[in-house]
Amino acid sequence: MNQPLKRPPAINAPAEPSSRPPIPLAEPAIGGNEWTYVKECLDSGWVSSVGSFVDRFEGDFARYLGAGHAVATASGTAALHVALLAAGVLPDDEVLMPSFTFIAPANAVRYAGAWPVFVDAEPRAWQMDTARAVEFLERQCHWSGGVLRNPRSGRRIGAILAVHVLGHPVDLDPLLAAAAKFDLPVIEDAAESLGATYRGRHVGRFGRLACFSFNGNKVMTTGGGGMVTTEDAALAERVRYLTTTAKDDADEGIHEHVGFNYRLTNIQAAMGCAQLEQLEEFLFAKRRIAARYAEALDGLPGLSLMPEEPWAKSAFWLYSIRIDPARATCDSRELRRRLRAAGIDTRFFWQPLHLSPAHAGAEILGGEVAERLHGEVLSLPCSTGLSEAAQSRVIAALRDSLES
Ligand SMILES: Cc1ncc(COP(=O)(O)O)c(C=O)c1O
Repeated sequence: MNQPLKRPPAINAPAEPSSRPPIPLAEPAIGGNEWTYVKECLDSGWVSSVGSFVDRFEGDFARYLGAGHAVATASGTAALHVALLAAGVLPDDEVLMPSFTFIAPANAVRYAGAWPVFVDAEPRAWQMDTARAVEFLERQCHWSGGVLRNPRSGRRIGAILAVHVLGHPVDLDPLLAAAAKFDLPVIEDAAESLGATYRGRHVGRFGRLACFSFNGNKVMTTGGGGMVTTEDAALAERVRYLTTTAKDDADEGIHEHVGFNYRLTNIQAAMGCAQLEQLEEFLFAKRRIAARYAEALDGLPGLSLMPEEPWAKSAFWLYSIRIDPARATCDSRELRRRLRAAGIDTRFFWQPLHLSPAHAGAEILGGEVAERLHGEVLSLPCSTGLSEAAQSRVIAALRDSLES
């Protein structure tokens, strides 16, 4: 089992395949009532988008978060799309959002016919630079007749999409204050950060609407799925209407608008109920894994630990480290190659969206920090079921690579 670790191959040498079992980045833990609840769906025939598990999952989720209303959706991306529409974002509006995030929220902005304005990251917590966002809204945009416009594009600012990246909250207070000044809706994208808190309260409790994802690699999963939460009953009703093909008269089959088939199925919701029962355990495991990495890796030359601001409690969705190529023995790309040779899966951060060909031409406020983070950050294995032995292997491989 515990074979001694070999020295990593020299830079540019071909990587030797590892004979030991691979350690994946993040895999789901299916160890509760999933089988029982899914079987209930199959036995009863309630397998589609109506069923008792859908209602129960929405109710349980709203209670967990302390939110007034929760509406389940087919994915986190679908949740974002309808949340933007329900918040009143119109075609040709602009939506302020971070450059340093997964592409889904920017895509959702485009599905709504609006345009993203990307904001750089800040280096402390790797979240959207809220000072830059507020400076843009307050000093660069024009406020006239109750409308805030970007003078460079002439477009209306329709919303702020506050993404909580990698399990850590974005600093919401400055965004909420600026949004209140201009009556802009804030939509939280908490897809990666279920269970994180900002100043003691769950993320997802601050914006006009909030969105979550239950994709397979998230803290909890339904295979695929999402949720929109809000305090506003009318907004929740609007989201429900849009996600169920906008039925105005279900009996007569009358639709006054083009809606979407974005509902979560009863089978997925059954999984969601079972996973939600284990969420506190999952979050505990994520924090335990993060604490062990922090203790074991602190002080390695050129390595910075995953940040956690004093006002935040991170969900540590993907535990990530930052490698300073000027101080470390190798850069993040080479480190990934060495870890892969040892059978350890890691992942780079996403290409900053202002550099993404898919969103070419979008405005960017700054961008240098996001670009540096993209080159320097590496996510480590952190499945909730990661064993101590597997984590020791990751730590030993990192030490072996980075200790000179
Ligand atoms: C920040 C963020 N927003 C939205 C999504 C989209 O969620 P889904 O994959 O469920 O569509 C993801 C990831 O999947 C994400 O990381």
